[in-house]
Amino acid sequence: MDCTKGLKLINNQSVDIVLSDIPYGINFDDWDVLHTNTNSALMGTTEHQLKDTTFKKRGKPINGWNKTDKKISIEYYEWCKQWCKELFRVTKEASPILLFSSRRYLHRVCCALEDEGFLIRDILIWQKDRCNAKAQRINNVLHKRGIYDDSFNDYRIGNLAPMYEPIIWAMKPYSHTLTDCVLENKIGGFYGENDTLPSNIFYCPINIKNKYHPTEKPLQLIKDLIKTFSIDNKHIILDPFMGSGTTAVACKELDRNYIGFELIEKYCQITIERINNIKIQ
Ligand SMILES: C[S@@+](CC[C@H](N)C(=O)[O-])C[C@H]1O[C@@H](n2cnc3c(N)ncnc32)[C@H](O)[C@@H]1O
Repeated sequence: MDCTKGLKLINNQSVDIVLSDIPYGINFDDWDVLHTNTNSALMGTTEHQLKDTTFKKRGKPINGWNKTDKKISIEYYEWCKQWCKELFRVTKEASPILLFSSRRYLHRVCCALEDEGFLIRDILIWQKDRCNAKAQRINNVLHKRGIYDDSFNDYRIGNLAPMYEPIIWAMKPYSHTLTDCVLENKIGGFYGENDTLPSNIFYCPINIKNKYHPTEKPLQLIKDLIKTFSIDNKHIILDPFMGSGTTAVACKELDRNYIGFELIEKYCQITIERINNIKIQ
């Protein structure tokens, strides 16, 4: 179900950790369109956009043209605030909130968390081994216009190779000390195997082919995050945007409890199949 409704079913202060790969608000898919602007460069429906697919895909600068475009990220922030408010209610003092977020709208998610009462602790990094490059050589474009200029050799437009994804680490404020929270609920700290201090950069190769979901996260990465932030198998880990259930699978493999929400029936079914197929050692 929609987590903005489903979260209301969870008791106050009953969740230990939130770990989620939230919709990034970058129009990746229908479930990722979190604004009312129908005149966006992506997934827009103006007359020109419907007529011309190139324009539809990249007709104008992202968020660049008018007030309505600029409201996209504000509407995304308003949407985030709805579920951040519920996260604040259901979590405990010092509960870690770990949210994958987009490089473009990370600041909006941080503000929504902060405005609903959380502290921002750090921005962790998922460092990848490869990425889908989104940049083109400008000379390829210029040559089509009959312009030849060697000074643009090696010059591109688009994005630098996106070799990382940010993970927001926020925390619910606590009234006494972190040590009290550790003693009470075994949360508030982190675990480094063999007395190591974990880095805030988590290296993990990307899945060669996402098998279950178009934005699936590597199971190993989710397990590494759980092992770092959850030291107790009584912990309840909440993922409000479950997708194909990678968090649930990781929890089950690591013997943790979990609660998850997912809007799309197909992904709920995939989650159930994945969970049922786990072989517990
Ligand atoms: C980024 S994907 C998560 C993918 C996941 N990490 C995986 O490995 O499969 C986010 C998911 O959130 C779901 N979603 C979007 N809005 C939702 C809402 N309001 N309530 C519950 N699920 C929602 C989408 O359908 C999508 O499957």
